Amino acid sequence: MKFLSTIAAGLLAAGYAAAVANKAVDACLKGNKVPASYPGDWDYDELAEPFNLRLQYKPAAIVLPETNKHVQDAVVCASQSGLKVQAKSGGHSYASFSSGGKDGSMIIDLQPLQNIQLDKTTNVAKVGGGVRLGNLAQGVWDQGKRAISHGTCPGVGIGGHFTHGGYGHTSRNWGIALDHIVGLDVVTADGKLLHATATENKELFWALRGAAESFGIVTNFYLRTQAAPKKVTYFQFQWADTLFKNKKAFTDTFLHIQTFSQNASVVDNRISYGIYLDGNATYNLGGTFFGTGAEFKSTIKPEFLRGTAPPTQVAVEEYEWIPYLILMSDKTDIKEPLTGYDEHDTFFAKSITVPEADGGLTATTLNAFWDYISKPAPYSYFVIINLYGGPGSAINTKDTNFAAYNDRDSLWVFQNYGTNPTSLDYINGINDVIIKSQPETHFGAYLNYVDPSYSAKEAHELYYGQELYSKLATLKKKYDPKQVFWMPQAIGVS
Ligand SMILES: Cc1cc2nc3c(=O)[nH]c(=O)nc-3n(C[C@H](O)[C@H](O)[C@H](O)COP(=O)(O)OP(=O)(O)OC[C@H]3O[C@@H](n4cnc5c(N)ncnc54)[C@H](O)[C@@H]3O)c2cc1C
Ligand SMILES: *[C@@H]1O[C@H](CO)[C@@H](O)[C@H](O)[C@H]1NC(C)=O
Ligand SMILES: *[C@@H]1O[C@H](CO)[C@@H](O)[C@H](O)[C@H]1NC(C)=O
Repeated sequence: MKFLSTIAAGLLAAGYAAAVANKAVDACLKGNKVPASYPGDWDYDELAEPFNLRLQYKPAAIVLPETNKHVQDAVVCASQSGLKVQAKSGGHSYASFSSGGKDGSMIIDLQPLQNIQLDKTTNVAKVGGGVRLGNLAQGVWDQGKRAISHGTCPGVGIGGHFTHGGYGHTSRNWGIALDHIVGLDVVTADGKLLHATATENKELFWALRGAAESFGIVTNFYLRTQAAPKKVTYFQFQWADTLFKNKKAFTDTFLHIQTFSQNASVVDNRISYGIYLDGNATYNLGGTFFGTGAEFKSTIKPEFLRGTAPPTQVAVEEYEWIPYLILMSDKTDIKEPLTGYDEHDTFFAKSITVPEADGGLTATTLNAFWDYISKPAPYSYFVIINLYGGPGSAINTKDTNFAAYNDRDSLWVFQNYGTNPTSLDYINGINDVIIKSQPETHFGAYLNYVDPSYSAKEAHELYYGQELYSKLATLKKKYDPKQVFWMPQAIGVS
């Protein structure tokens, strides 16, 4: 038995290597002196490892460009050899699309592109396509006490995060990460290096902000920055397991928070928060207020908690900017290594965007949600429900003319995340119970929580909607008719 399975494994390995290696592309890259790692090289396995170990793919080549020219040559080599291409920035795609989303693609791993340069007169930062969020935040702070709105996890990369949205507790105030982009250097499918802004190559600029993975490799981002606030206030309310034990308290608490979130006499752009709940019956609400702790406590907190079940713990505290970012990161430092990043998880996650126009979630939906999560779960999971909408939200002041990004009308965005899932059913079940409880509501999904279980058609409908998608599909034919930039849900995949 042991002998037979060794032979079988050997045969599999041989077939596998043959399926992955591509001699033509190897020769083309080597001929152009483009740095790359190939199957069997000493560093290949580590470079090929995505953040999400549940979905691992074997690229034909992993290019490590040091210049724009390397990226241009690599794209031409791939196109001539019929290989599909994806950029990898931080590698945090929930679907491992930056590993190609299938075996045998070319990955252009941007980790050598780590430049961060703040222009002191315009306050625009030029940032390389491989920079991680923690280093970005630290860099613009060190160079000019500046800040940018983006997510909280310092290991996430600029490349995926900024081109597919990018939410943090600064977003209701400053917009999502994508809104900070004022220019892009991009290599297109024909190997050209273009600069794209609102006035130059403007169709491409529009498409890259929402669907970069289908249109090119962004080598540099030009980002508008904000003056970092001296201090912000972080607040947290905890309910321990009390809401998991009491359906009425769960539903009434959420409904009050939802009403509060739309109450313009207390809520403006300066406040933001999200609810965290998990399979161990934890229920917390945490957020940020761009104002003092004293103001929060006197004018906001009383109305916030007026209609909720009594929290078991309340914390309100002021933080300076970098300590605040460290607090949000759940780590001791936001700086990340420039090479050899090696954090991973094994998970399945998906999202639900809840449109504000329909008024949010109903009591019926919340009761059904409670019925589902109050029973024991088969593996550990968490749900985060972030506030995107409400009075003054900078996220929702723009529309799809601004960028190819459709999530501009959500009140809430859910993230449903299962760790070491034995099947996808439990997490899919959370989506189902919410969506089926409100058949009249047009729920969508958030691009940065990309869900590999959707067909291309479902993904296009949920992430973009028909009108936006058809515009993108037309541009795809113009800029990338051979579909060089490809992952299973790319623009143009049917
Ligand atoms: C631990 C963790 C925490 C997170 N926290 C947040 C959060 O707080 N808020 C939030 O909004 N999201 C959050 N996310 C989701 C995150 O925003 C997305 O996973 C994001 O797309 C990851 O970006 P990346 O560059 O690391 O990913 P990658 O896997 O490198 O890339 C993702 C996609 O973008 C494409 N791409 C990457 N770089 C480029 C480029 N330069 N040019 C063209 N295409 C490119 C890739 O080809 C791929 O298709 C989190 C994810 C994780 C795993
Ligand atoms: C909005 O908040 C104010 C307090 O600031 C409160 O008096 C009022 O009742 C709230 N409105 C709703 C609909 O809850
Ligand atoms: C509860 O927490 C423990 C310890 O963190 C974890 O191992 C377990 O999977 C969690 N259970 C659920 C259902 O989330």
